[in-house]
Amino acid sequence: MTLSLGCDHGGVELKEIIKAHLIAHHPDISLTDRGTHGPASVHYPDFATAVARDILSHTSDLGILVCGTGIGISIRANRFKGIRAALVHDIFTAEMCKAHNNANILCLGGRTTSPELACQLIDKWLSTPFEGGRHQARIDMLDID
Ligand code: RB5
Repeated sequence: MTLSLGCDHGGVELKEIIKAHLIAHHPDISLTDRGTHGPASVHYPDFATAVARDILSHTSDLGILVCGTGIGISIRANRFKGIRAALVHDIFTAEMCKAHNNANILCLGGRTTSPELACQLIDKWLSTPFEGGRHQARIDMLDID
């Protein structure tokens, strides 16, 4: 499994914690860190784009994006056909976004979600299988030309 990480300055602290969590608890996952790497102000669409392109080019299977709220970075990621980016704040939606929506990017808010909860949300999303069936038919209806 391969996974790309991306964030802006509002999400960089949480992204570093997430990265350490993945290295420690998911050693089977090969990580690509698309930045940002420090507190300097940057533009979240650039990092959403980098992670979305990793997925669409099959460089990575999944992505995690973090900005201050998770909102801007999820909006940008969802502009790409084939990207299903889910901004989640609780365990149930972290589970459902994989089970029903097969979310290929999980979005989190660095200023809204504690590190402990963020790691729990990621673990739930990673461990939940997509249910397929009727949900695949609905996913096939998502993209608009
Ligand atoms: C940056 O200050 C902030 O606007 C950004 O991280 C994000 O929250 C946007 O949705």
